[in-house]
Amino acid sequence: MKIVGILGSPRKGGNTETLLDQALEEAQGKGALTEKIALREKAIAPCDGCLRCFKTGKCATQDDAQEVYQAMLEADGIIWATPVYFWSMTSQTKTMMDRSYALTVPELQLINKVGGIILVAGGRGCMNTANLFHQYFLYNHMFSVEYAYGYARQKGEIRKDDFATSMAREMANQMISLIQSNPRFPKEFSQPLPRYVRGKRSL
Ligand SMILES: Cc1cc2nc3c(=O)[nH]c(=O)nc-3n(C[C@H](O)[C@H](O)[C@H](O)COP(=O)(O)O)c2cc1C
Repeated sequence: MKIVGILGSPRKGGNTETLLDQALEEAQGKGALTEKIALREKAIAPCDGCLRCFKTGKCATQDDAQEVYQAMLEADGIIWATPVYFWSMTSQTKTMMDRSYALTVPELQLINKVGGIILVAGGRGCMNTANLFHQYFLYNHMFSVEYAYGYARQKGEIRKDDFATSMAREMANQMISLIQSNPRFPKEFSQPLPRYVRGKRSL
């Protein structure tokens, strides 16, 4: 079993990374192979909307996103970890999320994987940000576990938040249980919309 954590905080050793490390440590302790990808260390261009991926299922832009794709495809569980910036994810996170559009065509390539979320805000915006990831998981026909969140501003301050640290570990445990139960969407869910809707206008 492999779990990858995609870290979207630009701050090394910050609050989000602290929670992600705890989740990955918990997963490792339960026997999972884990990998942490710090987006701040990667050179990843924004999606240019070329839509060449529609034909190939692969992104035409050759940069560090390619190694993130590889890790996401190999993983059974994917944890997105980001601080809240203006009621949303960081731009590093959104850039990678946009680029992962290539993994949704011509069929959903992340289908049946388990998604987790770790969020840290100074005071507000976790719920709003969690919703964005939940929509992403729904769209990808992924399964979702409880999300872990906490409130902190200064580096390391999150360690004082017992609820946040235990939620991060709980989320990892839920992810492991769900992966072990091997949930599967029916075959027709391998596309984002049923065939009879595709090609027609929809919300
Ligand atoms: C550009 C920027 C925007 C932010 N926007 C919000 C926000 O909308 N709501 C909030 O509660 N905190 C906000 N914060 C505070 C961060 O979420 C908080 O400091 C968090 O602990 C940072 O996580 P990190 O240590 O992993 O970088 C913002 C911080 C920055 C730098």
